[in-house]
Amino acid sequence: MKISATIQTLALASLLALTPADMLAAKKGGTFTTGNKTFLLNGKPFIVKAAELHYPRIPRAYWEHRIKMCKALGMNTVCLYVFWNIHEQQEGKFDFTGNNDVAEFCRLCQKNGMYVIVRPGPYVCAEWEMGGLPWWLLKKKDIRLREQDPYFMERVKIFEKKVGEQLAPLTIQNGGPIIMVQVENEYGSYGKDKPYVSAIRDIVRQSGFDKVTLFQCDWSSNFLNNGLDDLTWTMNFGTGANIDNQFKRLGEVRPHAPKMCSEFWSGWFDKWGARHETRPAKDMVEGIDEMLSKGISFSLYMTHGGTSFGHWAGANSPGFQPDVTSYDYDAPINEYGQATPKYYELQKTMAKYNDGKKLPAIPKAPKPLVSIPKFKLTEYRPLLSGVSTQKESHQPLCFEDMNMGWGTMVYTAPLPVVQSPSTLIGEFHDFAQVFINDKYIGKIDRVKNEKNLELPPITEGSKLTIIVEGMGRINFGRAIKDYKGIIGNVTISTSDETSDIALTPTKWTNQTIPDDYGTAAQTFAAPQNKKASLKTTAGYYRGYFNMNKVGDTFINMEAFGKGQVYVNGHAIGRFWGIGPQQTLYLPGCWLKKGKNEVIVLDVVGPKGEATAFCQNKPELDKLNLEKSNKHNDPGHRIDLNSATPVLKGELKAGNGWQTLKLDTPVKGRYFAIECESSQSGDPQIAIAEVYLQDAQGTRIDRNNWVAYYADSEKGNSTLDKMFDLQESTYWQTEKGATFPHLCIVDMGKEVTVSAFEYLPRAEQGAPGSVKEFKLFVR
Ligand code: GLA
Repeated sequence: MKISATIQTLALASLLALTPADMLAAKKGGTFTTGNKTFLLNGKPFIVKAAELHYPRIPRAYWEHRIKMCKALGMNTVCLYVFWNIHEQQEGKFDFTGNNDVAEFCRLCQKNGMYVIVRPGPYVCAEWEMGGLPWWLLKKKDIRLREQDPYFMERVKIFEKKVGEQLAPLTIQNGGPIIMVQVENEYGSYGKDKPYVSAIRDIVRQSGFDKVTLFQCDWSSNFLNNGLDDLTWTMNFGTGANIDNQFKRLGEVRPHAPKMCSEFWSGWFDKWGARHETRPAKDMVEGIDEMLSKGISFSLYMTHGGTSFGHWAGANSPGFQPDVTSYDYDAPINEYGQATPKYYELQKTMAKYNDGKKLPAIPKAPKPLVSIPKFKLTEYRPLLSGVSTQKESHQPLCFEDMNMGWGTMVYTAPLPVVQSPSTLIGEFHDFAQVFINDKYIGKIDRVKNEKNLELPPITEGSKLTIIVEGMGRINFGRAIKDYKGIIGNVTISTSDETSDIALTPTKWTNQTIPDDYGTAAQTFAAPQNKKASLKTTAGYYRGYFNMNKVGDTFINMEAFGKGQVYVNGHAIGRFWGIGPQQTLYLPGCWLKKGKNEVIVLDVVGPKGEATAFCQNKPELDKLNLEKSNKHNDPGHRIDLNSATPVLKGELKAGNGWQTLKLDTPVKGRYFAIECESSQSGDPQIAIAEVYLQDAQGTRIDRNNWVAYYADSEKGNSTLDKMFDLQESTYWQTEKGATFPHLCIVDMGKEVTVSAFEYLPRAEQGAPGSVKEFKLFVR
């Protein structure tokens, strides 16, 4: 069948709501292919309306409810990642049971009349620890992740084979619900390496996905970098984006290809220390409406985000920006599975494209919402009672050296005598607390880019103790090779009038405290431990609450400092007083009538009495920062009046990247952009991304860049968003702030700059785009 006009595609597409006969056909074995400007399901045009759901982010008992919620929203497909590191937590030991039973999740989708798109990585990003890669890969110190490193590829092959054993029998050709399988994930934002992506494609094929349609997802700005001729190409972009523009390039290079937005971001994720993210319902609904009216397939990322339980939340870079436990994502179905106002709005639009048929009723929540009055966690064990292994060394060892994936390490070393105040310098991943002779001196927080701490004079026989808690490994960009603990040497630097001496402690004791329930519970099996010498209230707290009526609830952690919570043996997630998340989701299916056990591992210690209570709604937006996260310290504003710009001129209007070359390359560590006018005349400006090119015309690595100064920043649209690798987020000035706008970035070291690359916002008309500007490098 040859269909040339979009209108014809649409007419046929409207016939596509799934009928029991279709599903029966699928059971017998069917096909899903790409036709002329449309996907073809069993030979008939088909528009994919996919809901992204992540099985480990939903308790298994609630899987079916969440799938039904998506169905009632008008979706016909579920899109999911397979998370390598949750299935192979130890090298060679695979687990596809219980909450990891991804095949059962797919079967439940099929049972409920939903097709499935599988994205088996190996890398998935997803704000998930190390982007889904197992931490133990890092034991090979020179490993090249997501490249053709022999060890990496060997392990990928083994993992994908296991995925194939689970899921290949469930492809549509075999009578299952899986219609498409993804190869790698947004490789364009990592590198340019077609041989690697081809090798992953081959591994996926050889794992049993040899007949099913394979695809690659990327951004419109970079999909051609790694696009393989024999794969289907899909685009990822956020709500509000100019949709025609996002598919323009694809239309030019593959005029007959079906269009699909494989990640249409409904909201966004939250990070510790920044405000809760939201995105307007209107933008999401209008975008979906536009796509459906044009016959464009989509996957709504996330339709239901759920929770990154335990230590599974990842972190973003540049810098270190760990993600919170909740993955609510401001999605239409909230973290605990309920329909939000966004859901109802979207449902109205989806109903228009359901072939005139009524959408199924919204299923009843499996459990009611309940609250629990305040209770005390009276049992206490000091942090050191959780120590599981110990090693001596000359230089501090990292978690990976100690064969520990997640948790906290305690480092001790004898100190030299230092009569004057000195500075402790090192690389601590991620949150370090420093003690001398068991007395607390201060903290070194990677989130704040801290690398040193002032020490008081050190007397003879003094002992240094550093507690380093690891948070989620970075999941995006080159920084995913993210070791935990102390990285490299720790030095003590002292400057007196005559000399500057650097002292390096060389006799270290390294102790591990894994953050798992087994370790936590075990501390209470023994009587109070005498090792409790640190002057801190950090440690394990145990208490109980009673339930008459079992339901979903949210445990409020505001009395505590920072750490992990376990309820009835389930790892619930990380908390941190700085917020914005102050409560953790306790799914009712993990609770019981009568007595429920709560253990809190607090690496900092509660502020006062160790108490908690449970409320019937979450608190996801309460920040408690010592200092604002804005970058407008007046001391950082430089006077540019006498400086000469290295580049000045006018940027063009409209979406897309623009590159401007300097007359002659210049050297400097800082760059500043002064924005003097905008395309619309409105002084509220926005910049999505900026790159600088080096003397060879290559993009300068932005991993060490730090936002230094911005005259104005609106909400979470802080300056760091201008170089966060995410084209859908941006630096934006506040309404009412006037021209000129100035931002300054510290590049961490001196570089040579030959060109400036600028990307305005991705929305139609590129709102806030800059016109006249000056660039300074110093
Ligand atoms: C990208 C990735 C996803 C996720 C989103 C942001 O599109 O492919 O895994 O990280 O960004 O939520």
